[in-house]
Amino acid sequence: MTNSWNFNNQEEEKERRRRRRRTTMIRFGLFLSIGTSIFIVLAYFLSRHLVVRVLISEADKVIHLPDQPEVDFQQFAGYITVDEINQRNLFYYFVESEVDPVSKPVVLWLNGGPGCSSIGQGAFTEHGPFQPTRKGGLVKNQYSWNRAANMLYLDSPASVGFSYSTNKSFYDLLNDELTARDNLVFLRGWFTKFPQYKDNDFFITGEDYAGHFAPQLAHLILQGKTKINLKGIAIGNPHLEFNTDTNSKTDFLWAHGLISDKTYGMLLKLCNYSQISREYRNLTTESNICRKVAIQVAKEIGAVVDYSYIRDDICSQTKQQLQGEQKRDACVERETHTYLNRKDVHKALHAVLVGINKWSSCSGFLTYDVQNLDIPTISLLGSLVRSGVRVMVYSGDQDSVVPFMGTRSLVNRLAEEIGFKTSQPYRTWFVGKRVAGWNQVYGDILTFATVRGAGGAAPATQPESSLVLFKAFLEGKPLPNNH
Ligand SMILES: *[C@@H]1O[C@H](CO)[C@@H](O)[C@H](O)[C@H]1NC(C)=O
Ligand SMILES: *[C@@H]1O[C@H](CO)[C@@H](O)[C@H](O)[C@H]1NC(C)=O
Ligand SMILES: *[C@@H]1O[C@H](CO)[C@@H](O)[C@H](O)[C@H]1NC(C)=O
Repeated sequence: MTNSWNFNNQEEEKERRRRRRRTTMIRFGLFLSIGTSIFIVLAYFLSRHLVVRVLISEADKVIHLPDQPEVDFQQFAGYITVDEINQRNLFYYFVESEVDPVSKPVVLWLNGGPGCSSIGQGAFTEHGPFQPTRKGGLVKNQYSWNRAANMLYLDSPASVGFSYSTNKSFYDLLNDELTARDNLVFLRGWFTKFPQYKDNDFFITGEDYAGHFAPQLAHLILQGKTKINLKGIAIGNPHLEFNTDTNSKTDFLWAHGLISDKTYGMLLKLCNYSQISREYRNLTTESNICRKVAIQVAKEIGAVVDYSYIRDDICSQTKQQLQGEQKRDACVERETHTYLNRKDVHKALHAVLVGINKWSSCSGFLTYDVQNLDIPTISLLGSLVRSGVRVMVYSGDQDSVVPFMGTRSLVNRLAEEIGFKTSQPYRTWFVGKRVAGWNQVYGDILTFATVRGAGGAAPATQPESSLVLFKAFLEGKPLPNNH
C-alpha cells in the first residue's frame, strides 16, 4: 500500500516538475521581451537577496554522514542560539522531504524524558531517514517520515543530546515554562536561518513527555506574534494528566497478564499507582505499604521486560537481539549510542560536546522540576482544537508507561467537556489488509488512535502503520478504512 502511494507521488512529482519547467521558460521569455532597466535592477537586488538566503542555511548543510547510503534529499544540522549572554545553544537536525520539499510541511519532532534526545531517539531509532546497524554503519529506513514532510528534530532543553548552555547553572532547575520559551526562541531563529520554509504549513509532533512540550509550545505560538503557520499537533503515548495516566497502568498490567490477581487487588485497595509514582519521584521515603506494593509489582513483571513495549525484552548486555514479527532490532538504541559518539559523525553534523565527554540518549545531569508532571496539559489540547489547530493523540497499545486506556479516556472526556460530537465513531483502521489499530474522531478535528502492536515509540515498533498514520494526520484525512 505504501509502495503504490509512493509510486503515485513520484509520478505526480515528475509531472509537476515538467510543468514548472515549462512555466519558467515562458516567464523567462516574457521577461526578456520587456527588458527595461527597472526590471534588471530589481532582478539584481532579488538575486543578491536570494544568494544571502541560501548562504545562511548552507553553512549547516550536512554533506554526507559517515557510512550513509546515497540519497537525493538534503540534510542540515547545527545550532540555534537561544540566549546570547549565557551561550545557550540548541542543536537541530533537519531532513528535507524525499519529494517536493518546497510544498511539503515542516514538522518539528520532540522526544520526552524530560531530558531525552530527539536526534538520538526520534531521528536515529524511530522515523529518521537512516538507522544504525549492528556493524556500525547506517541503512536507509524505508518508512522514514521525510517521505511525507520536512522533518526537524530538536534536542531540547539545553543539556539534552548535543544542546548545551555554557552557564551550567541553567541546568539546575529546568521546567516546562523555560523549555517552551526556549523552543519558541529556537523556532524563530530557525525560520530566520531557513526563510524559504516560513510560509509552509507547520506541525508539532512528539511522544511521551512531549505531551507537555508539544501543546505548551503550540500554545505559546498561538499567543505570540511570531508568524508560524501552525496547523496541528500529533502526540504519541503522551503524558497528559498524571493521575489518569499512571492509574491506568493498574488495569493495563493486569489485563496483559504482567501481574497477578493478588497484586492487582493490592493496587486497587492498598496503594494506587499515582501514589506510588508520586512518592517515588519525590524521593521521600516511601510509605511502607506503597513500597511493599511497588516491590511486589516489579518482582512479578520481572527485570527483563521492556516497559515501553511489553511484547519484547530489553536489549541484553551480552547478545544482540532481533525480535518480534517485524524483526525489530531491540539494540538499536545501543547502536545509536555508538554511532553518535563517533568523532567523524560529530564533524559531519557540526555538533560539539560542551561540558560532557560523551553523547548520551538521555541527559544525566539536568535537574528537571518533576512536580511539573502534575501540570495537566489535556486542557491545552482543548484550547488548541477550539482555535482550529488539528490534534491527533495516538497510542502504541503495547506501552505500559503511558497506557492507551488512560489516554483514550482523557480524550473522550475532553471532547465531552468542550462539546465536540463524535464525527467518526470508534472503528478499525487499516494498512493494506491488516488492522493497524482503532480510532475515533471528534468535531472533525480531534482524533484518538491506537497503533496496534506498537510500543511507546510507535514508529520504532510499527514503522509502516506509523507512517500511514502520520501521513493521514498531515493531510487531515480519515485513517484508511478500505481493506
Ligand atoms: C548564569 O546564570 C544565572 C541565572 O541563570 C545567573 O544568575 C549567573 O549570573 C550566570 N552566570 C554567569 C557567569 O553569567
Ligand atoms: C490514589 O491514592 C491517593 C492516596 O491514597 C488518593 O488520594 C487518590 O484519590 C487515589 N486515586 C485514585 C484514582 O484512586
Ligand atoms: C511531593 O512533593 C510536593 C512538593 O514538595 C508535595 O506538594 C507533595 O505533597 C509530595 N507528594 C508526596 C506523595 O509526597
